[in-house]
Amino acid sequence: MEQNNNEKWGSRWGFLLATAGSAIGLGNIWKFPYITGVNGGAAFVCVYILAILIVGMPLMIAELSLGRATGCHPAWAFDRFTGGKSTLAMTVFGILMILCGISLVFYKYPGYAVVLLVLGVALMLKGWKTIGVITGVIAPFVIICYYGVIGGWTILYVVKSFAGELSFANPEQASTVFLPILKAAPEVRFGLFASHFLFIFLAAVVVFFGIKNGIEKSSKVLMPMLFILLIALVLRGLTLPGASKGLKFFLSPDFGALRAESVLIAMGQAFFTLSIAMGITMTYGSYLSRDVNIVRSGLLIIGLDTMAAVLAGIAVFTSVFAMGLNPAQGPGLVYMVVPSAFNKVPGNLGWLWNGLFFIMLTIAALTSLISLLEPLVNYAVRQFKMSRHLAVVLISLIVYGFGLLSAVSCADWKTLPGLEKVIKKFFGSANVSFFELSDNIASNWMLPLGGLAIALFVGWYWGTARAMKEIRRGTKSGRLDANMLVLLSGFNRKEFPQKSLFSPAVFWALSIRWITPILVVFAFLYCIGVI
Ligand code: TRP
Repeated sequence: MEQNNNEKWGSRWGFLLATAGSAIGLGNIWKFPYITGVNGGAAFVCVYILAILIVGMPLMIAELSLGRATGCHPAWAFDRFTGGKSTLAMTVFGILMILCGISLVFYKYPGYAVVLLVLGVALMLKGWKTIGVITGVIAPFVIICYYGVIGGWTILYVVKSFAGELSFANPEQASTVFLPILKAAPEVRFGLFASHFLFIFLAAVVVFFGIKNGIEKSSKVLMPMLFILLIALVLRGLTLPGASKGLKFFLSPDFGALRAESVLIAMGQAFFTLSIAMGITMTYGSYLSRDVNIVRSGLLIIGLDTMAAVLAGIAVFTSVFAMGLNPAQGPGLVYMVVPSAFNKVPGNLGWLWNGLFFIMLTIAALTSLISLLEPLVNYAVRQFKMSRHLAVVLISLIVYGFGLLSAVSCADWKTLPGLEKVIKKFFGSANVSFFELSDNIASNWMLPLGGLAIALFVGWYWGTARAMKEIRRGTKSGRLDANMLVLLSGFNRKEFPQKSLFSPAVFWALSIRWITPILVVFAFLYCIGVI
């Protein structure tokens, strides 16, 4: 058996802040307000909170406990229980995939057959390890390539705010600044590539110094700063005349405004914002010591993450409504509408509010990027036996290089016609841009399937009873209140005697074994257009 990770968090707070830093990111501050805006406001917020509680929380706890129990990155974590061999279920699954692959060989787009065959063979030979590598290496890699680009825009906007270049009065004028960046027009490319580089470089420096001296120390400084800035912006928003319209939109639900897809969007957002279903939280959990209470930590992280999303929503919507702008603007919301709103704030301090807003967004994105980089580095160190320092340098350069593809192809494929042609030839569709394609693959395919795999592994293979033992290390009471639902929960009657009907442990186990997998399968089938 191979060695566990031997680095550990220095303190419980260090771990909490770092994991909250991973969770709180562009997902909370850039994406959450705009999808809320597009999906009708407060009713969507309610659905989102339900998704966090029903799907997000159980998975977060499952990942932390699996990470801590194994002490490994996902590429090795699953193996700890399967002895590095494929399991029966995985072999059968692999064979099914190969059969599907074979049946698609003469389909007009050969890409699908290739993907299915490769995956099928990998599953047959390596079993769960394949899933560990996809969730813990490939998925963060795909995300990092476009996440880094948005981080770059954000740094660019900090500079522009202080240079007085964001002084536009309305979103139409704002688009003259934002659209060239989105389209990577030749005249903005230098700034775009430089800020993208700077963003990856900053994260790389932190990861270079390791868990305790890099990630933990930086989180202890950055996270309080983030919250102070957020609160300052919320106070600014709330004290604007007309702020109450924004609050009403954001906080008083009109369920008629909800669409069916909104539920799925909320679930996808729950995965993304909590950094779960990708083995990142599992990797952070692997540096965790035995005396930490996983449940309490999980709740705190989720609480902080939700708080950040709600605060960001308040800051954004109060300003946007007070200034009479439209909240349903899509991804450009924070880059076009928000700066216009801050510019209208009486006192001519728009540059300052914008500057603070984008500094806050940069911090949020940075701590998340760090958490995307760390699993890649952890994997490279162990798989290729290289030093952490070398791994950080190599991986940063690689993700920057691939990220450039996203940077030049955010809005459309015009800059990369060759690549588009190849992808179209193999898969029939290439989305509207490289950026969209990466987000689509990561958010609609890898996140739900990764979540499903982790839930099934913990719920059925590792088993909820064993998982519960790990979860309960570090908690005071030694006994679990299992109950009537004990059978469905997978608990062992003798070890976990029956007590109350609905205990949190049973809720957790039922979620991991049944509710999460079923919901995820539904969401997934919906995403790929089957239902
Ligand atoms: N949670 C971060 C956000 O809200 C993004 C992120 C970091 C992430 N690590 C992740 C998303 C892992 C999915 C998986 O912006």
